[in-house]
Amino acid sequence: MPSYAFFHKEFVPLEEAKIGIMTHALHYGTALFEGIRGNWNPEHEQIYIFRLREHYERLLNGCHVMKIDLPHTLDELCRITVALVEMCGFQEDIYIRPLAYKSSEALGVRLHDLDSDFFVFAIPWGRYLDVDKARCIVSSWRRPDDNVIPPQAKITGIYANNALAKTEAVENNYDEAIMLSPVGYVSEGSGENIFLVIDGKLVTPPGYNNILMGITRNTVIELAQKELGVETIERPISRSELYTAQECFMTGTAAHLTPIAEIDQRKIGDGEIGKITRKLQKLYQDVIRGNHPKYLHWCTPAYKKSPVTEI
Ligand SMILES: Cc1ncc(COP(=O)(O)O)c(C=O)c1O
Repeated sequence: MPSYAFFHKEFVPLEEAKIGIMTHALHYGTALFEGIRGNWNPEHEQIYIFRLREHYERLLNGCHVMKIDLPHTLDELCRITVALVEMCGFQEDIYIRPLAYKSSEALGVRLHDLDSDFFVFAIPWGRYLDVDKARCIVSSWRRPDDNVIPPQAKITGIYANNALAKTEAVENNYDEAIMLSPVGYVSEGSGENIFLVIDGKLVTPPGYNNILMGITRNTVIELAQKELGVETIERPISRSELYTAQECFMTGTAAHLTPIAEIDQRKIGDGEIGKITRKLQKLYQDVIRGNHPKYLHWCTPAYKKSPVTEI
């Protein structure tokens, strides 16, 4: 099935969307991206785009930091994305990749006196961390400080840091890296936030420990509180607390909610998926596929023909 892109303000086949080799963003990492999931629900014959608006709000905040002026409003970005997914017509889980970038074909390290542009495309994409339980290592690479490159914006250039950590983990036969903050507190995975279960409560690093404020993180905090009565504490986490937590899992748009079985060759709990983790995983899957009526406001249906569109 062909994929499409919204590129230079029109919908084109994905293979026709090309940029020039002098494009500023390619050389200096002067772009911002988002990763948005469209989740296929076979019973509803529908793709639900999860928390679409929140993803574009985060993108626009990042654009403000990076002085990228987009030619589209938040509402337009949402409408363009729904139209794109509908045009693609996939009947499986998809991943939507918007990119806002410095588009001038010009050299020189700066943010000023450059044009900006936006594109978005969608492709089929199943599991990101292709394991039921992940084995992780604490990375030798640390997250950058907000005064180095702000980790709260999904700036493409910052992802060189994440890529170094991920490849170090995979080449050492682990599934994912856990990075520490510049001062040594637990920060996040290369593409995921991290949660521990300690004494029946969720514990997760706060924004000031150099994390991306994940939309899945926010979703899990709300679901844990409202559906399970489990509170989340946001506080700095020491490395050794990773080893002694009863349960541990990662969250991210691509990775969903992935349990962690082992960190630095130490089992977490009994090395199996913990009780709270399993409950949250099930809840999250129901919510993102439009199977939980209370949270349908987070799910934007892409196909007009579905009866669920009327809700
Ligand atoms: C570094 C990093 N942390 C956390 C996340 C999780 O964020 P979200 O749940 O919004 O996808 C991502 C993925 O976007 C990420 O790249």
